[in-house]
Amino acid sequence: MKKVRIGVLGVGRGAGLARSARLAPSVELAALCDMSEERLAKASATMGVQTTYTSYEAMLDSDVDAVLVASPMPLHVKHAVQALRAGKHVLSEVTAATSIEECWELFEAVRDSGLKYMLAENYCYMRPWSIVLNMVRAGLFGELYYGESDQLQDFASRLPHPDTVANWRTSELAMRKGHQYITHDLGPLYQAFGERVRQVVCLGSGQHHVSWAKADDTCVVLCETESGKLIRIRLDFFSRRPNNYEYYGLQGTKACYEAPRTPEEPHRIHVEGQTPPGTWQNLWEYDQYLSEGWKKMPADAINDHYDGGAPLMLEDFARCILDDTRPPIDVVDALNMTAPGLMSEISRERGGVPVEVPEFK
Ligand SMILES: NC(=O)c1ccc[n+]([C@@H]2O[C@H](COP(=O)([O-])OP(=O)(O)OC[C@H]3O[C@@H](n4cnc5c(N)ncnc54)[C@H](O)[C@@H]3O)[C@@H](O)[C@H]2O)c1
Repeated sequence: MKKVRIGVLGVGRGAGLARSARLAPSVELAALCDMSEERLAKASATMGVQTTYTSYEAMLDSDVDAVLVASPMPLHVKHAVQALRAGKHVLSEVTAATSIEECWELFEAVRDSGLKYMLAENYCYMRPWSIVLNMVRAGLFGELYYGESDQLQDFASRLPHPDTVANWRTSELAMRKGHQYITHDLGPLYQAFGERVRQVVCLGSGQHHVSWAKADDTCVVLCETESGKLIRIRLDFFSRRPNNYEYYGLQGTKACYEAPRTPEEPHRIHVEGQTPPGTWQNLWEYDQYLSEGWKKMPADAINDHYDGGAPLMLEDFARCILDDTRPPIDVVDALNMTAPGLMSEISRERGGVPVEVPEFK
């Protein structure tokens, strides 16, 4: 069977995804690239990938079919556009872009290339979410009108001061207001609602933990979708508390879902006519709704990190190239998942006024 030969740019997060690639049947891990020779040598030895590059341009000149862009966030668009111009398909780490100007640059580069671009939003591929999403698509939720997500992850102690070292987490997540990492939260909800966010409102708590940071400890983004549905997202990278970065909730006219708040809790669902009134069922009672893609994945994929989403995501990317089909998270989806976070910064800076989100078409 033909496989897609993928070159990985950036072997931090990229090394984790490269490991996951071994569980994706249609992917061949062809090359690794990083300007850090030390990191590259370690990743090459761990993964047994012999072809390595310290120059991205050299990897783009090679015979890889596609590039996984896992460089720092502010370089995603630059590196994705370079790859497309070199005739390579792109799977880009999140988020898609760090400014609206970059969003348009990416949109136009993908359109002009005729190649595949997909956002590597692995949270859209989590197993429990695949059940929820298929239940939404099968009509069990009736009409959805509310969704929510929390990303509570304590980075405070791991953020270098901006004057000491160039670090994308500091520049993008600590030195900017609003939700600059919104795709993990909005991505899965965007899929469920099946429509883009047209305006956002953002307010924040102020900063109480890292004296030099500009970002709020907590900010809340309220999103209104194209047809007037409501999404609430909380981001917190600073508070001293147990992490929970996989919380989602959905409310429809006929069902509601809540992800666990603690590792001990189950995924809960209530479906009208099936769940006794006033009670919850365990989501896994509906595992017949697990996606076909998940059912075909090797058993090991379940134990891959983030509930195993990455191997299926890589497989889907390879399949859209081999079958010449629309990427499951194409450039318009990627920008619809990213731009509301960029506009939330403007809303927050202006005291919480509603701000429209550009439409990419
Ligand atoms: N989806 C997820 O769950 C998830 C988790 C972590 C990180 N990420 C994303 O992955 C990206 C990378 O994160 P990270 O933690 O690995 O960052 P990192 O800074 O640790 O690693 C980035 C690597 O890219 C290399 N690099 C940068 N520019 C390069 C160039 N021009 N040529 C060659 N190599 C270059 C650097 O040397 C570095 O090793 C981020 O954008 C982040 O958003 C996603």
